[in-house]
Amino acid sequence: MQNKIINEGLVSIKIPEFEKVSSKAPVFYNPVMELNRDLSVIALNQYQKMVGNPLNICDAFGGSGIRGIRYSKEIDSNKIITNDVNPLAIDFIRSNIDLNKVDNVSVCREDANLLLRKCKGKFDVVDIDPFGTPSYYIESAAISLKSGGLLCVSATDTSSLCGTYKNPCIRKYSSKPLKTEYCHENGIRILIGFIARVFAKYKKSIQVQFSHSSEHYMRIYLTIQKGAAITDQSLMDIGFILHCKNCLNRDLVTGFAPFLPSICPVCDGDYNIAGPLWCGKIFDSDFINGMINITDDVIINKKKEVYKLLNLCREEADGPPTFFDLHRISKKLKMSAPPLDKVLTQLLKEGYFASRTHFKPTGIRTNASIETMDKIILSL
Ligand SMILES: C[S@@+](CC[C@H](N)C(=O)[O-])C[C@H]1O[C@@H](n2cnc3c(N)ncnc32)[C@H](O)[C@@H]1O
Repeated sequence: MQNKIINEGLVSIKIPEFEKVSSKAPVFYNPVMELNRDLSVIALNQYQKMVGNPLNICDAFGGSGIRGIRYSKEIDSNKIITNDVNPLAIDFIRSNIDLNKVDNVSVCREDANLLLRKCKGKFDVVDIDPFGTPSYYIESAAISLKSGGLLCVSATDTSSLCGTYKNPCIRKYSSKPLKTEYCHENGIRILIGFIARVFAKYKKSIQVQFSHSSEHYMRIYLTIQKGAAITDQSLMDIGFILHCKNCLNRDLVTGFAPFLPSICPVCDGDYNIAGPLWCGKIFDSDFINGMINITDDVIINKKKEVYKLLNLCREEADGPPTFFDLHRISKKLKMSAPPLDKVLTQLLKEGYFASRTHFKPTGIRTNASIETMDKIILSL
């Protein structure tokens, strides 16, 4: 087996040569996830600044060890556990620890669920970065995180979360997805809603700090607070999105078993339903501002991409759930799309919230109604 060295952040990592990125690789490493790891380093630094103590971190799906070793080198950390079930991955993690001369990373070969359940209330940060769905590991993460801790979750089963395959989403997340222009945002809301419900069993509430959908994956960062009252309060953000495919109107209804209208009040078309899902905030602008400041100081290859994504997320952070797609509305109106900037300017002039969104280059996040959007687009 031929090995190669890759350089990312402040580390050099040895991995076996591979033909194609796949879960069948002898040891998993995906160069496309460099942006994910860069953002993770930045988010954990921001979280560490908030709590003020060196962090105890569990990298539950270690692969080559790159994530845990980067956390050790690039974040103020106390102890880091890097875990993987694959014995060859464990050999590579050990030699990568030596290669990078880090002394606070310990190695564990255990099923992630068993490890997390054995470490009840031990971690400040739990990082869940599995193949496909993270849904199997959320309950164990709820057990192992301290109150005040940070949960980081990646999901690559976007075809389920975005509604290409409805039944797998219902099976894994107990939620109905919906294929719409904003299906990636819906997917993130389904994942967060699922986490909120699982954590609620343990009287743990969630506060979303940052989330994004990039390439083939979604990633979320949320902090946890213990307490029955605050958990009950946070569950009030669970609800449903109603979407009319005819006129593109949408509505939000919160609650566990609320009355859901089946007819769109704008055009009398049928409403399609997604949920239950998270109707609350999916970004915190203070957290993102902190991440942007930290980006100035970190040494990473993907700085330009990181700034671009964080700036877009900051723009949309305080906007309402869901966004309109300019091209989809223009198609409905049987006209070519006007420039996006002109629509944004007009919305702002009329006193609405209006921003771009990182989810889609042609997306507009606004609190204006579909009727107002139609009127503005027709006028331009
Ligand atoms: C997507 S990769 C992790 C990539 C790594 N975090 C990175 O940033 O490069 C998933 C890893 O989880 C490991 N794995 C799969 N199932 C597991 C389980 N139940 N418990 C622990 N590790 C598992 C696989 O061997 C694989 O190395």
